[in-house]
Amino acid sequence: MYLINGEEVTKEEFNIPVENLAIWRGDGIFEAIAIHKGYLFGLDKHIERFAKSAEKMFFENINFEEIKENLVSIASNYDSGYMRVIIGRGSDKDKSDVFIFYQELIIFPESFTLQSQKAHWHAGGDFDIHEVKNIGSKSISYAMNLNQTRLAERNGFTDSLLLNKDGFVLEGPTFCVGWILDSTIYVPDLELGILDSITRSSLIEISNEMDLDLKVDRIHINDIYNVDTVFALSTAKHAIFVNKIDHQVYNEDPLLEKIKNSFIEFIDKERKLNK
Ligand SMILES: Cc1ncc(COP(=O)(O)O)c(C=O)c1O
Repeated sequence: MYLINGEEVTKEEFNIPVENLAIWRGDGIFEAIAIHKGYLFGLDKHIERFAKSAEKMFFENINFEEIKENLVSIASNYDSGYMRVIIGRGSDKDKSDVFIFYQELIIFPESFTLQSQKAHWHAGGDFDIHEVKNIGSKSISYAMNLNQTRLAERNGFTDSLLLNKDGFVLEGPTFCVGWILDSTIYVPDLELGILDSITRSSLIEISNEMDLDLKVDRIHINDIYNVDTVFALSTAKHAIFVNKIDHQVYNEDPLLEKIKNSFIEFIDKERKLNK
């Protein structure tokens, strides 16, 4: 099902004119929300982040209530997959359009390997995220991120692990990372200028509820080689094991299985609460 500005259109009509700034400048923002048996996990958090991105990128008069209603209504028809919503600047800087569509579930490869690469365009902790307005907005300008994925693929890895100029781990091009050392779970701090991942914040909540030891920290690439386990976090993945970073091969810590299962329980609990 496809919607443009709240109106249902056919797949053939679901197009953005090339002259729209969303296309030739990447001037837009987006969200992706996972569907679990017709239920959109973390919908309010996604809408809140979407509204923040809109505010940071000067998209005004967006009806988020209507977007939410449309997302809920379409998602209720599906057992799994994702709802995607994009706000794109139109042909004129004062116009914008809202595009909503359903995407089928992505199946990730058995082996997930990362090549570390410096991210020259990334704020990377060099700026005060409260002072510099658009750090962390979920904009559609992903060419830099995806270019690193392409490079990693050409070098035989599944994806890239982005580092700041000093070699500290930031995030993946489309995911957040976490690591486990001596039975403590770690996630990176947001002052690094990384996206405020909903999956990361859910893991923090899960750890509080389940009394798991979780710390927010940052880690240098040389130190991540020596941790017990690394995992990727995102709406599409929840938590998946990272088999290898550069030359370093990891074993999966049993705590990661617990994290994966706790996501299933957490989502189920939220779904029942919102029924
Ligand atoms: C750069 C980046 N970091 C992290 C994430 C994970 O965010 P979330 O957990 O909200 O899906 C994403 C997801 O698209 C991303 O693009």
